[in-house]
Amino acid sequence: MDVLLTGGAGFIGSAVAARVAAAGHHVRVLDALLPAVHPAGTPLNLPPGVEFIHGDVRDRETVEKALRGVTTVCHQAAMVGLGLDLDDAPDYVGCNDLGTAVLLAEMARAKVSRLVLAGSMVVYGEGRYRCPEHGEVAPGPRRTVDLDAGRFEPPCPRCGAPLEPGLVDEDAAPDPRNVYAASKLAQEHLASAWARACGGRMIALRYHNVYGPDMPRDTPYAGVASIFRSALARGEAPRVFEDGGQRRDFVHVADVAEANFAALRALPDRPPGESRRYNVGSGVVHTVGEMAAALATANHGPEPVVTGEYRLGDVRHITADSRRLREELGWRPIVPFSSGMAAFAHAPLRGQ
Ligand code: UD1
Repeated sequence: MDVLLTGGAGFIGSAVAARVAAAGHHVRVLDALLPAVHPAGTPLNLPPGVEFIHGDVRDRETVEKALRGVTTVCHQAAMVGLGLDLDDAPDYVGCNDLGTAVLLAEMARAKVSRLVLAGSMVVYGEGRYRCPEHGEVAPGPRRTVDLDAGRFEPPCPRCGAPLEPGLVDEDAAPDPRNVYAASKLAQEHLASAWARACGGRMIALRYHNVYGPDMPRDTPYAGVASIFRSALARGEAPRVFEDGGQRRDFVHVADVAEANFAALRALPDRPPGESRRYNVGSGVVHTVGEMAAALATANHGPEPVVTGEYRLGDVRHITADSRRLREELGWRPIVPFSSGMAAFAHAPLRGQ
């Protein structure tokens, strides 16, 4: 296949580029090299034979050129992370939603009908919970008064009882809790609308917390694994927010690249007009506190500090059920948490 890979110079995108190119496919990367993740002087880490176009996915002319001769698009370009405040909202919506709309419009004109979209678990909001009395429930956003008092667990919205967190599957109703999450959900809706209107085939991969070598170092937009890793590199203790009991699924970037390759290969056999969503998680749940401890131990660095701070846009627990991806696309995560984190504790970060 001839693949246009947007965001292909980024942390996840460059792993996808390497995987797809290694299988003998032609890859053309389109990347705006956003300064937050590509500080001046950062070398491009693309395998030989991969074409590179420096440009923004919001620019119609650039996208039109980038799509020439392409059969399949893998859309990784996005602005990620929780960000700082609402000042970021236009940039999130611009990069993620306007960018996707421009790409889809140009794909429609060029009659490119296959799309893999980098999605996110953030679209679910709080994960899945069970109340002993009321069964499955969907707690709303956590209240500031509770968070200030150190009550981090969302209670049952019906009776206030403590809840048991569980795994979210793809049929759970989306409930985005911050601007980034809303922009990622809108991307999926836009891509579904394109698939319906143009007979396109779309697979959205809802990534869990991706980590691994070449992750951008800490910025307000970086993932928590990179923030902790960067702190340790400075000889500082990782600062764990809330009480450290937040549950996440840390999935290695090599496994995410493999999921993209599986999705790209599956597209031709999909019915025209179809959009299908897949969670991409390791299937093994860890807390943020456990992750901090694993990194600190492997780094022989200072023990993590649990600070009790919180960020209003954060959800408490979110963990994926990735059975659909395993069963339908034959994907298997292969990097275990223990060895993945041990290697990550010493791996280079982007922009260091
Ligand atoms: C992360 C990704 C998001 C991705 C999603 C998929 C980032 C910034 N976020 O969201 O792009 O779509 O996974 O699930 O890459 N925390 C600390 N100390 C800190 C910073 C954060 O303890 O210094 C804790 C927060 O309290 C929170 C968790 O880490 O519990 C958040 O992790 P983070 O990686 O920022 O965001 P996610 O919501 O997991």
